[in-house]
Amino acid sequence: MSQRRPLIAGNWKMHNGVSATTALLEGLLEENLPAGVDVVVCPPFTSLPAAAMVLSASSIGLGAQNVHWETKGAFTGEISPDMLSGLGVGWTIVGHSERRSLFGETDETAAMRAEAAQKAGLEVIFCLGETLDEREAGSTFDVLKRQASVLKTLDPAHLVVAYEPVWAIGTGRTASAEQADEAHAFLRSEAASFFGSDTAGALRILYGGSMKPGNAAELLGRENVDGGLIGGASLDVGSFSAIIRAAAL
Ligand code: PGA
Repeated sequence: MSQRRPLIAGNWKMHNGVSATTALLEGLLEENLPAGVDVVVCPPFTSLPAAAMVLSASSIGLGAQNVHWETKGAFTGEISPDMLSGLGVGWTIVGHSERRSLFGETDETAAMRAEAAQKAGLEVIFCLGETLDEREAGSTFDVLKRQASVLKTLDPAHLVVAYEPVWAIGTGRTASAEQADEAHAFLRSEAASFFGSDTAGALRILYGGSMKPGNAAELLGRENVDGGLIGGASLDVGSFSAIIRAAAL
């Protein structure tokens, strides 16, 4: 870990309706979580109001999993940044690999979402990462360079980057701590090329992809790994809080 304040964010994906959301968050609030770690949870849209109620007096941040770039209009099925901030949502994930691979998200649309979200006052967790084919073809760093290039239009003060190698998401296959640190260092040097080195030095870069209590300490112990974006292991109070505690070490 580094001088940057660690952040552990839970990406619940399409899990937890209203009652499961309330139960999970009430359980999390009963845990004695370390003060030095920022924690954010990202439930599905329909569970956000319930989550906002449970978390209203807590320091746990609330995030959405996606956001549209327009404020309103004929965009069936989309949710605008203002609709989220009006609910007390302070964060949003953008550009998750499942949005990219299953729902046609591109670097350009992810950038549009992120810009609009920041303009509405939301903190953005911007996801990127290479596929297995890209890693095996030796093009990991070309892909990361291309994906990271859109970050230059964003406000780094309200940005967190999440490196999520697609081959490690939900597969039980984790990047080694060396692979994660190497990718994070590369992303930080890309960020330095457009934000400058001081700003890039303060930018938090999370690792995501099968992070669990058993591997969290090793990943989070690396110089350039500033936290985690946690899918499966964020759905259980015990495993999510164990990861949060590992980030405090
Ligand atoms: P996982 O998901 O922890 O279940 O691999 C991470 C993510 O997709 O954000």
